[in-house]
Amino acid sequence: MRYNFDEEIDRHGTNSRKWEGMQEMFGRNDLFPMWIADMDFKTPPEIIEAIKKRADHGIFGYTFRPESFYDSIIKWMKTRHNVDVKKEWIVDGAGVVSTLTIAVLSYTNPGDEIIVQPPVYYPFFRIIQNNGRVIVNNPLRFENGRYTMNFEDLLRKITKRTRMLILCSPHNPVGRVWKSEEIETLGKICQRHDIIVASDEIHSDFVYSPNVHTSVLSTSFKESTLAFIAPNKTFNLAGIPSSVVIIPDKRMRDRFLITSENFELETSNIFSIVATEAAYTYGAEWLDELLTYLKGNFDLVRSFLKENIPQAKLVNPEGTYLGWIDFRGLGLSDGELYNLITEKAGIALDDGNLFGIGGSGFQRMNVAMPRNMLLKGLKKLEESLRR
Ligand SMILES: Cc1ncc(COP(=O)(O)O)c(C=O)c1O
Repeated sequence: MRYNFDEEIDRHGTNSRKWEGMQEMFGRNDLFPMWIADMDFKTPPEIIEAIKKRADHGIFGYTFRPESFYDSIIKWMKTRHNVDVKKEWIVDGAGVVSTLTIAVLSYTNPGDEIIVQPPVYYPFFRIIQNNGRVIVNNPLRFENGRYTMNFEDLLRKITKRTRMLILCSPHNPVGRVWKSEEIETLGKICQRHDIIVASDEIHSDFVYSPNVHTSVLSTSFKESTLAFIAPNKTFNLAGIPSSVVIIPDKRMRDRFLITSENFELETSNIFSIVATEAAYTYGAEWLDELLTYLKGNFDLVRSFLKENIPQAKLVNPEGTYLGWIDFRGLGLSDGELYNLITEKAGIALDDGNLFGIGGSGFQRMNVAMPRNMLLKGLKKLEESLRR
């Protein structure tokens, strides 16, 4: 291993939302944080160097994205995901959530219906509802410890007002890496009903072998899709918002650009450009090692639970660094479970109910931290149960 993921780094005093911003969500700030999706690992040294070098120049005037920025994305998509992307398909974004909001505003009108597949990343609900669109739930099926899409339910839910489906691929929080057949079936249904598939692929670099990510950009329905990708999740750059949205169809792209221009979001962030290019140019080896480490962390969670808290089960993570744990075997109400985890164990997890239908009895655990820290969190949970 060239990189040291065991290094424990104190994040206090850095305005870390994960470590110092728990008050809003949990009512206290002294929990052991295993919640919000950023990692307790340092960004790859090549990215830190690139940012330092740019900072050393000392002038941070208006900027633009150079050709090499787009080249790095195109190359990354080809080498990591076997997807051919054309430069003109790439549209700049800040973070994925804000860019997804622009997509909602571009392709739907107030009162239109947008489908989501809960339990799912909860800001999707906010984006739809806060903009006067209607949430339509197409809940995932959970059978024999595995989640699948429910296409019969999807067909029943589609109406004349359905305009968009927000796909989470890989899926946060349940950890599924959708198979190409699943994506194709979903896409064909949507295409037949004129529904745009907005595919949030921010977790696509976190996929554990033998699973393989299928981007909507490599499907037969790519002309009615847009895919959101970002180095900020992969390389732990959430505080330097950086994402792009890839839109193969020109008419769809033009519509997106009109909305985004209306918000005057032209100004680029120098550090985000530099970090993105360095990440996609030099980050592959670091990411490969990280994936091995994260897989080891998931193995630890699985075996620890089996041995010490057999009533709690980790849903098999095919991707992401977010463990989705089924606590229903403890026989507690959601309130009692929350109380056990937050008040008694003193750890911060994301409550399953945040993720909508199907979240009751579950908790999401972020495992992207040095292994000793992870073990400390797991022990806190075990001790609270023993007590
Ligand atoms: C599925 C998904 N989309 C988007 C985001 C956030 O993206 P951004 O910080 O770029 O807005 C997250 C963060 O956890 C996520 O899990």
